[in-house]
Amino acid sequence: MRKLAAGNWKMNGTGASLSEVVALLSDHPAPACDMLLCPPATLIARMADLAKGSALKVGGQDCHANSSGAHTGDLSAAMLADAGASHVILGHSERRTDHKETDAEVLAKAQAAQVAGLVAIVCLGETEAQRDAGETLDVIGRQLVGSVPEQSTAENLVLAYEPVWAIGTGRTPTLAEIAEVHAFLRARLVARIGTQADGVRLLYGGSVKPSNAAEIFAVPHVDGALVGGASLKAADFGAIVAAL
Ligand code: G3P
Repeated sequence: MRKLAAGNWKMNGTGASLSEVVALLSDHPAPACDMLLCPPATLIARMADLAKGSALKVGGQDCHANSSGAHTGDLSAAMLADAGASHVILGHSERRTDHKETDAEVLAKAQAAQVAGLVAIVCLGETEAQRDAGETLDVIGRQLVGSVPEQSTAENLVLAYEPVWAIGTGRTPTLAEIAEVHAFLRARLVARIGTQADGVRLLYGGSVKPSNAAEIFAVPHVDGALVGGASLKAADFGAIVAAL
């Protein structure tokens, strides 16, 4: 399967940051993997314009579960698609924490995204306390069943394993720990959505950088990365793209 290098800009970036996208596209006109950047919603349309005809796809970082209505400040999946997005990140741990998003809400958003023609990138991951308590697989299994739509296909779902304690900390699980979780995710996904699960890309996220990308990508069932901080600079993200 073709791997996916996805970048999550989080709440970073203004129009000036688009120069990084110009540099990325000129350095990697024909990458060996798929490339995706998820900027703040304010930049989706401009980034999508820049990406036209290139290997880069553009995504959102969240969407509402409803298609329209009285939800001040929210964006529907159809609006993201209309702005040029092909993907949307859902259930990121920062949203699960900052906005108290539950699995049920993430599930509803993922369904709405898929109905609007977007690929839902559903994020899962344990906290440090949960890992220390030996609950990692239980937590992730519960999140998967609770937030992945049963009708998902290899074309409209991506899963991202992001241990909460590895996000923005410079710490990563061991390669054996990543392998254990990704093999578990693949098996659970087969149980949830059937044989389509074999083609769903499972991304690892959490302190991925140019220096550790190649060894993480060599782990079985790691089909790419969801990159935060290192996706903001074309040189760093480009080096990760080149490692895939
Ligand atoms: O969604 C990506 C993210 O949470 C990982 O962030 O900065 O550790 O790569 P970072």
